[in-house]
Amino acid sequence: MADIDRAALGIDGPLRKRRISGPRTKVHNVHNVFGGVGDAAAPNLIRFVTFVRFITQEAAMDPVNNPYNPGAGGRPPELVGRDDILEAAQITVKRIAGGKHSRSLMLLGLRGVGKTVLLNEIKDIAVDCGLHAGKMEAPANKKFLEKAVPLIRKVLLEFDETTKTKSFIDGALGAVQNFASVFKVSAGGVEVGVKAKRGIADSGDLATDLTDLLVTTAKAAQSAKTGIIILVDEVQYLGEEDLSALVVALHEVSQQNLPLALFGAGLPQLPTLAAEANSYAERLFDYRTVGSLSKKESIEALKAPAEAEGVKWETAALTKVVNATEGYPFFLQEWGFQAWNASPTKTIAASLIPSVNRAAIARLDKGFFKSRHGRMTDREVEYVRAMADLGAGSHRSGEIAKEMGVSISAAAPIRSSLIEKGMIYSPSGYGDAAFTVPMFDGYLRRVVLKLEGGAKKSRSKSAAKKAAKKKDG
Ligand SMILES: Nc1ncnc2c1ncn2[C@@H]1O[C@H](COP(=O)(O)OP(=O)(O)OP(=O)(O)O)[C@@H](O)[C@H]1O
Ligand SMILES: [Mg+2]
Repeated sequence: MADIDRAALGIDGPLRKRRISGPRTKVHNVHNVFGGVGDAAAPNLIRFVTFVRFITQEAAMDPVNNPYNPGAGGRPPELVGRDDILEAAQITVKRIAGGKHSRSLMLLGLRGVGKTVLLNEIKDIAVDCGLHAGKMEAPANKKFLEKAVPLIRKVLLEFDETTKTKSFIDGALGAVQNFASVFKVSAGGVEVGVKAKRGIADSGDLATDLTDLLVTTAKAAQSAKTGIIILVDEVQYLGEEDLSALVVALHEVSQQNLPLALFGAGLPQLPTLAAEANSYAERLFDYRTVGSLSKKESIEALKAPAEAEGVKWETAALTKVVNATEGYPFFLQEWGFQAWNASPTKTIAASLIPSVNRAAIARLDKGFFKSRHGRMTDREVEYVRAMADLGAGSHRSGEIAKEMGVSISAAAPIRSSLIEKGMIYSPSGYGDAAFTVPMFDGYLRRVVLKLEGGAKKSRSKSAAKKAAKKKDG
């Protein structure tokens, strides 16, 4: 990507050539601009302008100091627009720390909006409050218990063992042992040497045994005058049985007013999944939407990290990036990152943004979008392509099937497997579909239609028309 930006700037050679280590002098700058590949070529006008900018500005932007952090779960340099959620989390954590129960919080949002970042932040808040916290990611292969049981055991082993707490901790560790052996999962590590009590977490009924496990664990925390926060990312991957058992167990924990709370994060279909798994799930969880940032927040997310490094953004440059990213946090980090690396001066100029757009999109196409694309079967690609052909936003299942040229019943299993893989979701909960990855429709139009070649050109034209019509409408 840096190559694209650098080409736009008229600078050849590896990026590191532009960086100056040691005492910075104008002679170094001259050497760096004209050094490397392309020495032999006569400098053109752009290179000359770049050269002048280098010698008249003291410091170019060093990629080493680039503050933007595009990546899965990577803490952003400025966590903006999430005060409400963090406040709610703080209240929950403080209640648990005070020995009271609190409703579990579920963060819902599309890919790349910052759910994992928030879970990490909440975990830190919990630990700072003296609570015991364990975080896990629900695996896509539905082996939830294989991760959950060792996590609970690990949390229990952190408790201070005193004469007052020992019997509670041993009771909970016994429940872990029973549970692990009944459900044939590893408790994670060497045997803890406690004598498991019969009749606790050993019935073979998942909901009953998970309830025993969480209740004994929460009681152990209560005896140690502390509380437990369990954080589960990608909750939508939980199978129906696991999700239902978890809901039953948390319900019992709440009825017994025990100091244990769960913070979950998942794709927006989660409330439907939880309601299907258990009718009272709706009242058990406090659902919070994590969305794109407002214009003001997006500007703050871009501006503040730069200012902390003595770098400015032209106002028009900020507006262009906010428009291009639609305020999606991951995209803001990606655009900020590219803009920083592309800027030859300490002011990020609006004129730079078209090349930044190209660089950022090219990198997303090769990474963020492509990784999702690669996980789909050919039939699934046909389904999502039909969605993209219909334009941005959500579409009725019937419309998508029609666009694919198949019956609704033939398209239904493809739709289900895409939902299960977390590629699409149903915003209304009934028969519609939208992408869980923001701007995925644009990627499909850009890349998949291109891969398919000219044969599908007429279709892509009709898609463009439909998309334009939808936008106008
Ligand atoms: N409030 C925010 N302000 C600015 N950037 C943010 C904010 N929250 C998250 N980000 C950035 O967005 C990117 C994605 O964050 P994160 O991985 O937490 O998203 P996610 O919702 O968990 O995505 P996924 O569903 O794919 O797991 C990261 O680069 C992170 O730094
Ligand atoms: Mg995540």
